[in-house]
Formats: sequence, C-alpha cells, structure tokens
Amino acid sequence: MPAGEASPAPALSAWRIKSWFWGDCQPVGYCQLISVGVKVHFMKPVALVTGANKGIGFEVARAIAQSGYVVLLGARNRATGREAAGTLTSERLDVRFVELDVTRMETISAAAARIEADFGKLDVLVNNAGIADSHDGPPSRASIEVMERVLRTNFLGAVAVAQAVLPLLRKSHAGRIVNVSSDLGSITRHGDATWKYAHVKVLGYCASKAALNMFTVQLAFELRDQGIAVNSVNPGFTATDLNAHRGQQSVEEGAAEIVRVALLEHGPSGKFLETGGELVW
Ligand code: NAI
Repeated sequence: MPAGEASPAPALSAWRIKSWFWGDCQPVGYCQLISVGVKVHFMKPVALVTGANKGIGFEVARAIAQSGYVVLLGARNRATGREAAGTLTSERLDVRFVELDVTRMETISAAAARIEADFGKLDVLVNNAGIADSHDGPPSRASIEVMERVLRTNFLGAVAVAQAVLPLLRKSHAGRIVNVSSDLGSITRHGDATWKYAHVKVLGYCASKAALNMFTVQLAFELRDQGIAVNSVNPGFTATDLNAHRGQQSVEEGAAEIVRVALLEHGPSGKFLETGGELVW
C-alpha cells in the first residue's frame, strides 16, 4: 500500500464502541474497561481538507494533524496527493491521502463513502481547493468559459463536497465546515474605491468567493440547530502557486485562522473571519 494511503478500517470501529458505552462523550486516546476486560481504542477526531497537496491546504492539513486529528488529505492527483501525505506521515502525523477532485462527483461520492466506511463520521471539513485563472478578468471582458470553470471549482465544488459529507458531520459531536474564502469575495470591500485591493477586479474569482460566502451564511442558518458550525475564512494574501508567490504572507500565516476556526468546537457560525477579527461580507 503506498505511503500515506488509508489502511482498511477494523471491523468494529472504536467510535461505535464509544457511542455504545458512553453516548456523546468524546475521549481521545484509549481506555481499558477492566470490569468487562475489554480494551477499547478511541478514535481520534477526523478532518478532511480539500486541495491539500500543496499551498495553504497542505499547511492546514499539517497543523490539524499536529493537533491530534486524523487528516484526510484530499487531492485530485494521486501522485502528488500520496507524496504530500507521505511527507506528513514521515513527520509522524496521522495523514491519509484521499483522491478528491471537487469538480468530479464520482470522486466526491467515493471519498464520502470511504470516510463513512473507515470512520463512520467526520468532525471537520475544510473546503480549501481553489483556482484562479489568468484569463479571468474585469467584468467587461472576463472569459465566460474561464469564469464557469472557476465558479465550478471554487463555489460548486465546495457545495458538492459539503453536501456529500453532511451526513457524516451530523455524526460528530461538534461538526465544523470552514470555507476558504477571500477578501476579494467581499462585495462591501469591492464597493470601496479606496480599498487597497479595489483594483483587483477579476470577476470570476471574486464572484466565486462571494458565492461561497453566500453558501456559508445559508448553510449556517440551515444547520443552526444541528450543532454544525459553518464559517468563511480569508487566509490573507499568501505566497503560493495561485498568485505566482506574490503573496506577502507565509503559508503558515495563511493557514493560521483556518486552523483556529477548524479546531474551535462550539464556536460561532455564519461568520466571515480573518486573523484578528471579522470581515464585512
Ligand atoms: P494553491 O494553488 O497552492 O493550492 C490550491 C489547491 O487546490 C491545490 O492543491 C490544487 O491542486 C487544488 N485544486 C484546484 N482545483 C481542484 C479540484 N478541482 N479538485 C481538488 N483540488 C483542486 O493555492 P492556495 O493559495 O494554497 O489556495 C488555497 C485556497 O486559499 C484557495 O481556495 C484560494 O482561493 C484561497 N485563497 C488564497 C489566497 C492567497 O493569497 N494564496 C488568498 C485568499 C484565498
């Protein structure tokens, strides 16, 4: 089996034993039931990060795994996904590659089915996968075909993954969805001609993040009584392949708020957050 690949789950998963004995409690580690002579290994919390083979997503996967989670590292390319997961497993982190192209329903369904079979639940989804395109551009001339592709990945891809794993998030005691957005998706900021990024009018990318923010608000409302928090996070301008490494932050800095919100149990929902506070929609 290739490095970083998930191994088959034991026949009786620990969370099932846990809920059988303890209902909703969430211990991590293992416990010996001396009275009945059964040793039970409790399952760690489980997180799925999309587009995690590089950039911000890779750092998010690393940091969440360092917090004791099993991290499912989603990537559309098997070779780069396995290599990235292998790098993190060599750091003694519990990270497993999952093939996941957010524009291909069959990979989304297969990933959800595998999480169900291996873990029976999901605690955190980070919708990180995203693209920008040089043929995107200002509203008067942005390529329709390119904008369609950008919207399909950045918006519809995130919606499709969230819909597929929602039944698994409902089985967590504190499910969380973090949609990796951007301040370029803020309609309020774009309406301010003095904003430092006001000149960055790439319609497809900006509209995809504004649409993602709408998804955050609507899903947070829909799930408000189900114990699942849904938030958008702006990582800030970060040096990655997405912007030819012109960003001013490191990937660790870009990942920081995403990780904080992902690990926050019973935190706020329906917010647009960045390091240091809340953003205007
Ligand atoms: P990146 O280009 O380094 O990483 C993007 C990741 O998404 C890659 O792993 C790529 O393979 C994956 N991806 C693209 N299409 C995919 C698909 N169809 N299915 C699955 N995975 C796919 O870029 P970066 O900067 O790490 O971007 C991560 C997220 O952060 C994106 O959503 C981006 O829009 C967002 N963001 C980035 C900022 C920056 O300054 N770098 C600023 C604000 C938001």
